[in-house]
Amino acid sequence: MNNSLSSNNIIINMDKVWLSYDKIHYVLNEITMSVKQSTNYTIIGQSGSGKSTLLKLINGLLIPSKGKITVFGMTPNKKNKQFLNIMKKIGYIPQSLGLVKNISVLDNVLIGTLTRINKIKSILKILPEIEIDNAKQALELVGLEDKMEKKTYALSGGEKRRVAIARALAQKPILLLADEIVSELDHVTSKEIMNLISDTQHELKLTSVMIHHDIKLALDYADIVSVLQKGKKILEIGVNGNTITDFDMTKNQPC
Ligand SMILES: Nc1ncnc2c1ncn2[C@@H]1O[C@H](COP(=O)(O)OP(=O)(O)OP(=O)(O)O)[C@@H](O)[C@H]1O
Ligand SMILES: [Mg+2]
Repeated sequence: MNNSLSSNNIIINMDKVWLSYDKIHYVLNEITMSVKQSTNYTIIGQSGSGKSTLLKLINGLLIPSKGKITVFGMTPNKKNKQFLNIMKKIGYIPQSLGLVKNISVLDNVLIGTLTRINKIKSILKILPEIEIDNAKQALELVGLEDKMEKKTYALSGGEKRRVAIARALAQKPILLLADEIVSELDHVTSKEIMNLISDTQHELKLTSVMIHHDIKLALDYADIVSVLQKGKKILEIGVNGNTITDFDMTKNQPC
């Protein structure tokens, strides 16, 4: 990781980033943003505004059509071996969750820990006891201790979401990218999960970029809320409890 970058605490930097899937239409349009260490940066916006696409760019799953991104000082790209090392420390919870349906809940969470252990051991599935305990702890944190041995397909939508959260936490990430992680959960469980992430954030200086549909939830937990509309960032506000601490209305208004 680039030390000069950590000196100013900027974990993610995007400079005039554009993204097109078809080389004709742009779904992200000149996005500029930066995320400091320990910040909860939350993105909201209507369906199709480009939120998930933005998260995939940060994780190196997509490459910008124009513009520059750095994450821990490196250009994200899943095909770059150096960036793959950084990816091990990025807990990514995709909107689709990315769980393997036919294996147990515990095995799904262990997949998160596999990124941290020796390749041969992971191929041979020789998992140190400590990793299994770590995965079990993560499942306890999300309240799934009694479902560890169940096949993942047999869980409810909300339970699957919690498995994906446990998998990311078991990875002991320093950056968490969470795409609508509480959208299928009831209010009480949503709060529990968000409190858990918030506590982890403070304890471990975890940086997070989260996407929410619920604006109240975003305001309750975010340090910065960014609003996307038709691929453009139209507003960014700093929040602290009920107080707006910073305000930036982007000049490029959507057409
Ligand atoms: N793989 C893809 N190929 C082509 N177009 C895509 C692809 N993924 C997303 N898009 C398009 O890009 C735009 C932004 O999609 P994205 O998934 O980023 O939106 P979103 O803000 O996350 O929406 P939602 O709130 O519904 O999840 C949409 O118009 C979508 O149809
Ligand atoms: Mg999405």
